[in-house]
Amino acid sequence: MNVLVVGGAGYIGSHCVRQAMSAGHVVAVLDNLSYGHQASVPRGVPFIHADMADTSAVRQALRDHQIELVVDFAALTNVGESVQQPERYHDNNVIRTQSLLASMLAEGVKKIVFSSTCATYGIPEKMPMTEDLSQHPINPYGQNKLEVERQLIALATTQGFSFAAFRYFNAAGAVADASIGEDHTPETHLIPLAIAAALGRRPPLKVFGSDYPTPDGTCLRDYVHVDDLSRAHLAVFDRLNVPGRQHFYNLGTGTPQSVKEVIASVERVSGKKVPHEFAPRREGDPPALYANADKVKNELGWRVQYASLDSIVETAYRWHLARPQGFATA
Ligand SMILES: NC(=O)c1ccc[n+]([C@@H]2O[C@H](COP(=O)([O-])OP(=O)(O)OC[C@H]3O[C@@H](n4cnc5c(N)ncnc54)[C@H](O)[C@@H]3O)[C@@H](O)[C@H]2O)c1
Repeated sequence: MNVLVVGGAGYIGSHCVRQAMSAGHVVAVLDNLSYGHQASVPRGVPFIHADMADTSAVRQALRDHQIELVVDFAALTNVGESVQQPERYHDNNVIRTQSLLASMLAEGVKKIVFSSTCATYGIPEKMPMTEDLSQHPINPYGQNKLEVERQLIALATTQGFSFAAFRYFNAAGAVADASIGEDHTPETHLIPLAIAAALGRRPPLKVFGSDYPTPDGTCLRDYVHVDDLSRAHLAVFDRLNVPGRQHFYNLGTGTPQSVKEVIASVERVSGKKVPHEFAPRREGDPPALYANADKVKNELGWRVQYASLDSIVETAYRWHLARPQGFATA
């Protein structure tokens, strides 16, 4: 299929681009490089440096590359920042995504895979989390993603759009050859922060909360390897051939890991101590967030290749060792 990956110069997008190419799809990337890295786009892949709200650039890209399906990773992703700058987040994550959808409609491209998030559920009413839980996001970022999900439902119902929205848990790791990996500025994700602390590149890691009602008192999260996550996107492409189809999948491994377990894993993999200190709980951090992944497994036949936390951390560690400055040294 001819696929446009919007936000394809970002962390997950750049991994998905490689997976899509290996599966034989013809890929083009559109990204405004607000956070992405052009160096993460493989040589030879058409790259359109544009905002997804730039209607003429998007429509031209859809035409030039005879795009049949869009995979949309483009968003501002920092939950804390979304609380401080809700209008900026709404503009980028909702208004500009609507503009992308309008450009697709205008060009007759009606298949999309959208990056949603488990943050749309807010404080979940049960664990592990199934797709039918009620969605009450507790921050603007989660609200943005829920708004787009609702917009997609409306487009499926009224315009024959077919879509899949994947509600990711915590993407982690890097491609096995360490050629690309996670390079966010600022970095807010636990695994890269723990690795940087182990390598002495950052101050001691702050662990927020040690008195949660969890086995070791620290928060439980669900880490899924970025390549496993990307593969789920490809597995849904064929299901979007029927107009009006709507698919929602939680995308996590279903295995909860505590902050202390992540620290222990980084220490095992690196052979170094992770300097860390405990701080009070952060407001809005639920004690546990992990997926029930039955739906994506049963319907798409999705299986993880990186089943253990250590195997995920190993790939992240290799990337951070190889690229101390991230893409700045690429
Ligand atoms: N990383 C995670 O654990 C995680 C978890 C849940 C959901 N998600 C979602 O997955 C997607 C990808 O996340 P990521 O970690 O790769 O983030 P990222 O910041 O690395 O990638 C996002 C990319 O989108 C681009 N972008 C942003 N706004 C754009 C716009 N208006 N026009 C064109 N390009 C734009 C950025 O330049 C960047 O390259 C996001 O939608 C995010 O909300 C990520």
